[in-house]
Amino acid sequence: MTDATYYFDMSAAPMRIGGVTLKVRDLDKVLDFYRDTLGLAVLDKEERRAVLGTDSTPLLVLEGDPSAAPSGRYQAGLFHTAFLLPPRADLARWLRHVADARTPLQGASDHIVSEAIYLGDPEGNGIEVYVDRPVPDWLDANGNIQMTTDPLDVQNLLAGDEGAVWSGFPENGNIGHVHLRVGDTGEADRFYRDILGIDVTVDYPGARFYGCGGYHHQLAGNV
Ligand SMILES: [Fe+2]
Repeated sequence: MTDATYYFDMSAAPMRIGGVTLKVRDLDKVLDFYRDTLGLAVLDKEERRAVLGTDSTPLLVLEGDPSAAPSGRYQAGLFHTAFLLPPRADLARWLRHVADARTPLQGASDHIVSEAIYLGDPEGNGIEVYVDRPVPDWLDANGNIQMTTDPLDVQNLLAGDEGAVWSGFPENGNIGHVHLRVGDTGEADRFYRDILGIDVTVDYPGARFYGCGGYHHQLAGNV
């Protein structure tokens, strides 16, 4: 491909994250958060279960269980669910939206492959909201995917809002990846690489990124 600006087509990947299910203690409170802060549509709501997503696609299931124990920070489990907004302008609009609402944020990073903003839901489940850079920007001189964690140029991002305001999670948005806390990256490799057959795209001490179909990662694990 010669077009230097082409973006990864998640729908063409052999495996991708279809949806995430979270067990939550206060279903109504967490539901309100994902609806108001991320702009997800409520597709179904029962006493102990809710489904959110775009108007046509379920992305997030919340299972209410008031007796569920909070997940410990040093336990294996979810690090964050990462919501991918394909047009960069949407990330700019969303950032203005959460700034106006004074939603606490936890971080903002430039990962070369993507621009990402981090926050937590009311029960501490991690959330990333991000946009990808064009695929050619991901690669080093040897054609390998490169990732770092640098400060995000927020002013540059905000300047790209194209003059529009956030109007909810876009129909073509999805869950681009899930990042896990793992106890041992070697064990994680034995499952995600060797059994599920997902490529290790980036390998750092204490961190693994697993990609399918050429994506930088649909899954990741940090020790
Ligand atoms: Fe992530």
